[in-house]
Amino acid sequence: MKNSIFAVAAAAGTVAAQGAAYSQCGGQGWSGATTCVSGYTCVVSNPYYSQCLPGSGSGSGGASTTKVATTTTRATSTTSAGGSQTSAPSSSGKVQYAGVNIAGFDFGCGTDGTCNTATNVNPGSSGIAQMKHFVTDDGLNAFRLPVGWQYLVNNQLGGTLNSANLANYDNLVQGCLSSGAALCIVDIHNYARWNGGIIGQGGPTNAQFASLWSQLATKYKGNTKIAFGLMNEPHDLNVATWAQSVQAAVTAIRQAGATGNKILLPGSDYTSAAQFISNGSGPDLLAVKNLDGSTTNLIFDVHKYLDSDNSGTHANCVTDNAAAFQTLGNWLRTNKRQAILSETGGGPNDSSCLQYVCSQLDVLNSYSDVYLGWTGWSAGAFDSTYTLTLTPTLSGGKYTDVPLLTKCIAGKFH
Ligand SMILES: *[C@@H]1O[C@H](CO)[C@@H](O)[C@H](O)[C@H]1NC(C)=O
Ligand SMILES: *[C@@H]1O[C@H](CO)[C@@H](O)[C@H](O)[C@H]1NC(C)=O
Repeated sequence: MKNSIFAVAAAAGTVAAQGAAYSQCGGQGWSGATTCVSGYTCVVSNPYYSQCLPGSGSGSGGASTTKVATTTTRATSTTSAGGSQTSAPSSSGKVQYAGVNIAGFDFGCGTDGTCNTATNVNPGSSGIAQMKHFVTDDGLNAFRLPVGWQYLVNNQLGGTLNSANLANYDNLVQGCLSSGAALCIVDIHNYARWNGGIIGQGGPTNAQFASLWSQLATKYKGNTKIAFGLMNEPHDLNVATWAQSVQAAVTAIRQAGATGNKILLPGSDYTSAAQFISNGSGPDLLAVKNLDGSTTNLIFDVHKYLDSDNSGTHANCVTDNAAAFQTLGNWLRTNKRQAILSETGGGPNDSSCLQYVCSQLDVLNSYSDVYLGWTGWSAGAFDSTYTLTLTPTLSGGKYTDVPLLTKCIAGKFH
């Protein structure tokens, strides 16, 4: 949509190209339009990003300060009343949710959206016992429960939820709820795909994707501790078109009556927090709305690893991603939106990761008005040999956590 608005402005013969609604209009390295179409003003988010926002205020500097300041009134948390700067205008210094992924039902899912229903693993009673331990002994309160799309519908694209498979998955969901957790995230772990085809872009139709979510929403609408993670790590797709698929799922969920559940909206680039704004995901997903046109409980979903290539495959960490999370945090404040970090992690006892993961989570805490929290990757059916394991070791009826969990994932929540 923003492209067509841009085209209209250009065709109308404006002297210099003007930025479309919600498009980027400045920031380090930016060489595009620095003014906005009528009704919009270029507002500075941070040194890296300025954006065309509604309003026809005068200068960019004054408009920027005003914009940022108004976000303080929306704060869910207290303090910092006198804050006149963009830094922590309304952060309480502590996020609301922290926990881990309980993986297993996603085992066998590849980045092409194939999910082998013969190789997925039910985390079962161990997964449930882990959640109970994490809540009781570590004070954690949020779990993400990945599952392959194929498993839930027993390989019938567009079909009804398979009752036996759903019962197995639901057992984990109920275990999450009964652990005392405040947030249980249903995560469809399919990379925006089904067996190689991209949703709404040659693969499954938006209606088939919406059907899955309509059924899940019907099942879980009674409990708002359950959040709907629409899709794990979309990648290599058209972001504007993807936003329409996301909208189809949101509409289906709300129409099914799940009006109070949080819905997590994922961008492209494997949901990278660093690419969320610059590569178009954030700007396009801003247009996704509830039935009433509001964005209440529509939360952006982001991932970030700390190894050299952001892949989460190395045991050592090389960055705390501070710039990425500050840039995104400022953008969220400007746009009055929130995000959750639903995957992050590092080597479970690597000194570089103990340092960087902790300091990354410090940044999220300092933006607790816009970051709801984090779920680390990953516990559940992973064993102690997995590079990024957060699975506790059971011995003599007692769980022992890995240092990364104790020090950072839980430690930074207290
Ligand atoms: C941006 O998105 C395009 C299309 O999905 C992708 O090919 C490209 O790699 C992305 N760029 C970055 C920096 O992630
Ligand atoms: C973590 O690493 C330190 C330093 O190498 C080591 O002394 C300690 O035993 C390790 N802890 C665990 C739980 O592996």
